Amino acid sequence: MNWFSKLFKRQIPRDDRDPKQSNAYELVGGEPVIRALAQQFYLQMQRQSASAELLAIHRAPLAQSEQKLFEFLSGWLGGPQLYQQKYGHPALRARHMSFAIDEAMRDQWLLCMKHAIEETIADAQHRDVIYQAISTLADHMRNR
Ligand code: HEM
Repeated sequence: MNWFSKLFKRQIPRDDRDPKQSNAYELVGGEPVIRALAQQFYLQMQRQSASAELLAIHRAPLAQSEQKLFEFLSGWLGGPQLYQQKYGHPALRARHMSFAIDEAMRDQWLLCMKHAIEETIADAQHRDVIYQAISTLADHMRNR
């Protein structure tokens, strides 16, 4: 369970995880699985009536947001740093400042992510660890 302890090495929210810190990317199945995760996330957002407000605050075409989420998750889980290569340091909290994110909005985001993880990550322990880590990051996005 080396990767488990590595993923949880620091409980502070980080959006610039060093790829050497985690091999979660390979463990869960690499690019196709991370792509499917991002795709499911946006499918869930359109499907779940409970996340209607979250869907409504999106400005860009969802396909573009999905691609950016995939690129970010790739690096964050220890794979290629696709987002960073294209857009520079993720600075995710700063990039989310123009959206009002309170607990309810965070929970809408996490609801979609929970379902997306359940649909795409095969191993239950991997699901739990990733959900825990991403919950910490999502909470860090709160600005209200
Ligand atoms: C906690 C609640 C969150 C809310 C309400 C939220 C909402 C949003 C919205 C509305 C956008 C802009 C999309 C658009 O304009 O169409 C966005 C962009 C983005 N979000 Fe989130 N987000 C949250 C958390 C997260 C988390 C935890 C991650 C990472 C796992 C993340 C990753 C991204 C990325 C990579 C982008 C693209 C940024 C860019 O424009 O370059 N978000 N988010």
